[in-house]
Amino acid sequence: MLSYRHAFHAGNFADVLKHSVLTLVLEYMTRKDKGYTYIDSHSGAGMYQLTEEYAQKTGEYKDGIAKLIDNPNIPEALEEYIDLIKSFNLKNESNHVQETQLNLYPGSPAVAKAFSRRQDSAHLFELHSTDIEHLTQFCERWSKSHVKQSDGYEGLLSLVPPPSRRGVILIDPPYELKEDYPKAVKTIIKAYKKFATGTYILWYPVVKRELVEKMKSNFTESHVKNVLQVELCIKEDTTEYGMTGTGLFIVNPPWLLKKQLEEILPYLKEILGQAQTTYTLTQLIDE
Ligand SMILES: C[S@@+](CC[C@H](N)C(=O)[O-])C[C@H]1O[C@@H](n2cnc3c(N)ncnc32)[C@H](O)[C@@H]1O
Repeated sequence: MLSYRHAFHAGNFADVLKHSVLTLVLEYMTRKDKGYTYIDSHSGAGMYQLTEEYAQKTGEYKDGIAKLIDNPNIPEALEEYIDLIKSFNLKNESNHVQETQLNLYPGSPAVAKAFSRRQDSAHLFELHSTDIEHLTQFCERWSKSHVKQSDGYEGLLSLVPPPSRRGVILIDPPYELKEDYPKAVKTIIKAYKKFATGTYILWYPVVKRELVEKMKSNFTESHVKNVLQVELCIKEDTTEYGMTGTGLFIVNPPWLLKKQLEEILPYLKEILGQAQTTYTLTQLIDE
């Protein structure tokens, strides 16, 4: 029984980190003319209305994207992501000044769609009966997209290696079930055996530190090479319930990504953080 709905969390600090990294990875992929395949194992609804009930109930986006959207001192590496969010939220243009009114927040499929060219394709998996409807509708006019209501772990394994041998794979489970932590890493390890040059982005929440430590050791004990780990923890780790931080494992990151994150992370700490906020950026496994 699935109960997770991303609409409650769209645009929160974890989405900001995840989608800014996704933006940087996809921007890098489009620097070459050759097409690439994007695989989103856990896609969600595609696009979110921040003014509607779900997002308003938690208000999480107010401590995330809302704090950044009109901030004048955006670091260069974050500009593309902020411009993308703005493009969905333009109010009007007066005297050549574009005003934004935050209403829509793009999920990972919408970020991917924004970068998709004629030569690129996308495979999107989602299980929830309502979110799959929204996602299907969202992708209706995206001709190279393939939406499926089926298990994303199995789905991604069936698609690698892509014919173009260029691919970005986002794995973004809800972690409602503890099994998602080992399953996500093990799926990457399996996929890597078939497609060792793909870029894999695995998102995780910091809820229980030992679950993240276990993911790390699953990676370091595997044959997977070149893994970058980034983490932004708004609060200190706790044994109580609740997400205190967020992170990503990125396998085969574009060579520029580490430098771009070194620029972005202090800024996110300053704008989104509190006194106890920390970040880490670690080459977990060498090339
Ligand atoms: C964190 S949300 C995805 C958010 C989205 N990737 C984004 O960044 O906008 C996780 C989604 O995975 C879906 N889901 C859960 N288990 C799944 C599975 N085994 N295969 C595909 N989708 C699944 C949930 O219904 C939920 O919509």
